[in-house]
Amino acid sequence: MEVVIVPDAAAGGELIAEAVAALLRRTPDALLGVATGSTPLPVYQALAAKVRSGAVDVSRARVCQLDEYVGLPAGHPESYRSVVLREVVAPLGLSPDAFLGPDGTGEDVLAACEAYEAALAAAGGVDLQLLGIGTDGHIGFNEPCSSLASRTRIKTLTEQTRVDNARFFGGDIEAVPHHVITQGIGTILDARHLVLLATGEGKAEAVARTVEGPVAAIVPASALQLHPHATVVVDEAAASGLELAPYFRATRAAKPSWQGL
Ligand code: PGA
Repeated sequence: MEVVIVPDAAAGGELIAEAVAALLRRTPDALLGVATGSTPLPVYQALAAKVRSGAVDVSRARVCQLDEYVGLPAGHPESYRSVVLREVVAPLGLSPDAFLGPDGTGEDVLAACEAYEAALAAAGGVDLQLLGIGTDGHIGFNEPCSSLASRTRIKTLTEQTRVDNARFFGGDIEAVPHHVITQGIGTILDARHLVLLATGEGKAEAVARTVEGPVAAIVPASALQLHPHATVVVDEAAASGLELAPYFRATRAAKPSWQGL
């Protein structure tokens, strides 16, 4: 995998937004897998700025969700459908018809998982999947010990993840659902390009285990080592646990200018 160390979150957002713009110039109807949480917001802001300036045309772009809470009422402001509509679809001016996500509101969760796998396949697969990483190494909501071959399914969140996400629910951990639908690790690995963004000291250990540790289900993000085109973008704080940081910096500095992410 390629590891790119950037000065700060804004630089990471700009770098990834440019990679998305380059993809859309090659493939105007690309399917972009988007992630929720705080980390990817600078990517969406940088991409929206490019749309406003005319640097990229997103009129045919499509977006899809990585995961969703189970049991929040339709339209709940913290459902990931609402978050993606608010943070991505609206600022980019995309049609809500260009948006795919699993239904976490229905009774039949199993059917919703199968329907989402089928919808992703019917859409031709994900061209670029943006990922955050949990402090426990999760990607999507694939918590530690998720099967590395897993497909879209229901998962139970760890207490740590519910604590981490309580800030989106007014600090009330009881308001954070226990269950989610998430693309599986195998589903995520089907995307043609994986781009993981991590910022802040709190992610340093998870990043080091992802990049430099063994591939292991205990660190779900380590599955990126199995993907032929995976890019990990980290700010200085999130890179602080990387033994090979000097090598990653040298590699980046020597990278041919014609090569994108
Ligand atoms: P965060 O979440 O970007 O809000 O830290 C990342 C994740 O849980 O995947």
